[in-house]
Amino acid sequence: MNTILIDGINYDLPGLEKDIWNRLLNGSLRYKDAFHNPVVANVNAEVVNLRTVVLRNVLPDKNQLAFYTDIRSGKWKELHMQNNISWLFYDAQVRLQIRLAGKVTLHQDDLIADGAWATSTVSSRKIYLGEEGPSNKTTIPTDGLPDAYQTAAPTIIQSKAGRKNFGVAVTTVTWMEWLWLNSQGHRRAAFAYNNDGSFSAHWLIP
Ligand SMILES: Cc1cc2nc3c(=O)[nH]c(=O)nc-3n(C[C@H](O)[C@H](O)[C@H](O)COP(=O)(O)O)c2cc1C
Repeated sequence: MNTILIDGINYDLPGLEKDIWNRLLNGSLRYKDAFHNPVVANVNAEVVNLRTVVLRNVLPDKNQLAFYTDIRSGKWKELHMQNNISWLFYDAQVRLQIRLAGKVTLHQDDLIADGAWATSTVSSRKIYLGEEGPSNKTTIPTDGLPDAYQTAAPTIIQSKAGRKNFGVAVTTVTWMEWLWLNSQGHRRAAFAYNNDGSFSAHWLIP
């Protein structure tokens, strides 16, 4: 049989692909979801560089997902040089791993970044208010924010100063892999996307 039964629902490969994007969408919307904090990796001149991010703006129709970052960060500079990226998600409760790869576009001064900034809360804008960028050395342990924000949160007006440091890294997915661990036997499938958004899919031996 070319389908798989998960929690009473039969999935074929297109159904599974939809389910993955639903899970990613949920992960972006719910901060307690296991998929909310994936790991993204890129290559720089020396190594593969990995770090945790917050999953944002999942667009299943465009095969896109994003994270926000400070444009002064190392990852922004590295992705500017080399825009291949990989994402890793694991939901331990359902024992489901998703791996994605794709190409990044960086958005700082356009409608995508403006839209993302407009929906950001003051508390999430705060981290963009540091005078020095991430990874700068300091003589003391500090979050790098101005003294005024050590004791009081910035106002919405004050938070606007962070806009110049805010960027959105959008990934258009070219490849995606689903791995489900199961005591009855693991299952695995892969999806390769074409430029027009269509995809081919295969079951794989786990
Ligand atoms: C749970 C969690 C969520 C994070 N989310 C983000 C994020 O959305 N964007 C970001 O730039 N850094 C985020 N970070 C910090 C990064 O993992 C990383 O430490 C930092 O961005 C510096 O990375 P870089 O030097 O490779 O640019 C997060 C860290 C943790 C632990």
